[in-house]
Parts: sequence; C-alpha cells; structure tokens
Amino acid sequence: MRGNLICACAAMWFAIQLGGCKANPPGRLDTKMITEAKRHIFVHGKSQKNPLPANAATIADGKEAFSHYCVACHGLDGQNTGVPFANRMSPPVPLLSGKDIQAYTDGQLKWVIDYGIWPSGMPGSKDTLSDDEIWSIVVYLRHLPPAGSLGEPEMYSH
Ligand code: HEC
Repeated sequence: MRGNLICACAAMWFAIQLGGCKANPPGRLDTKMITEAKRHIFVHGKSQKNPLPANAATIADGKEAFSHYCVACHGLDGQNTGVPFANRMSPPVPLLSGKDIQAYTDGQLKWVIDYGIWPSGMPGSKDTLSDDEIWSIVVYLRHLPPAGSLGEPEMYSH
C-alpha cells in the first residue's frame, strides 16, 4: 500500500519535471555557482549536531526509513540504482555518495531532508518522518553501501 502510494507520487513528480521547465540547462560555471550559493546561503542547520550515535543499529534504522520514503528517487543505495527517471529530472537526482553532498555537515543534511530543495524535485520530509528517523537517515547517508549492491527498488522491478 505504502509502496503504491510512493510509486504514484514518484510518477507525478516525474511528469511535473518533464513537463515543466524546458529552459536551457545552466552551464558548468553557473551550476557551480548555484551549488556554492545553495551550500552557503540557502541550506541552514550547519552547526546542528546529530544526537544519534553512528553505530550499526542507527545505520540499520536509517536504511529502513530511507527504503520507505527516499528510494523512489534515490534508489535503495542512495545512488539512483534502478530509478528510471533519475537523469531526466531537472536538476537530476544526484549520487548521495558524491563529494558535494558528503561535504554538507550532518545538520545541513538534516535541514535538506526536513525542508527539501525548492523548486527542484527534492521534497521536504518534516511532516512525514520523525526527527529521529531523519537523523538516522543522515547516518545512513554517511555509510551508503557500494552502488548497485542492494538491487533495484521493488516498485520499479516489475
Ligand atoms: C520525488 C523524488 C525525490 C524523493 C522522494 C527524494 N528526493 Fe532527494 N533529491 C531529489 C532531487 C531531484 C534532488 C536534486 C535536488 C537539487 O540538486 O536541487 C535531490 C537531492 C537530495 C540531496 C542533496 C541535496 C543537495 O543540496 O545537493 C539529499 C541529501 C537528498 N536528496 C536526500 C533525500 C532523502 C534522505 C530522501 C527521503 C527522505 C529524499 N531525498 C527523497 C529527488 C527526491
């Protein structure tokens, strides 16, 4: 049931992203500037500390929460494995293992997950997930498994 809901949601976002902004994609320099601006001005929470210990139990909790809410766009491994539209969203779904994202502090990652990145396809989860679930996801993001090692999200495999 929950899987179907997320699936419908992902399909909706996909349609919005494809049908939406068809302007020229920004050049590399623009993209870099936008990324920098985003990190320094827009994304808050820099000094907030993760209250959860980074141990195996927290990683397992984070992986579990991630697999309900985030897989539709990020794949089970946070690296887009099996997500059919990841490269066609604008901006595309990034590899969560990537340097730019790992450079965020834990507090900034929490903020991104709380509020999303407007106006891209990255939704905020503050109303859907508890603080503990989100902090555990942050720990999971620091310990992502090798790309492809968890297979594809069930919702796309049939
Ligand atoms: C509907 C698709 C979708 C869902 C669901 C989704 N994301 Fe995203 N996510 C995106 C897109 C698209 C981006 C790229 C946004 C950008 O660069 O502006 C993104 C970016 C991110 C980033 C990097 C942000 C940055 O500033 O570079 C993180 C971290 C992230 N997502 C984590 C999550 C987590 C954790 C969840 C689940 C709680 C989740 N996402 C759910 C589509 C999604």
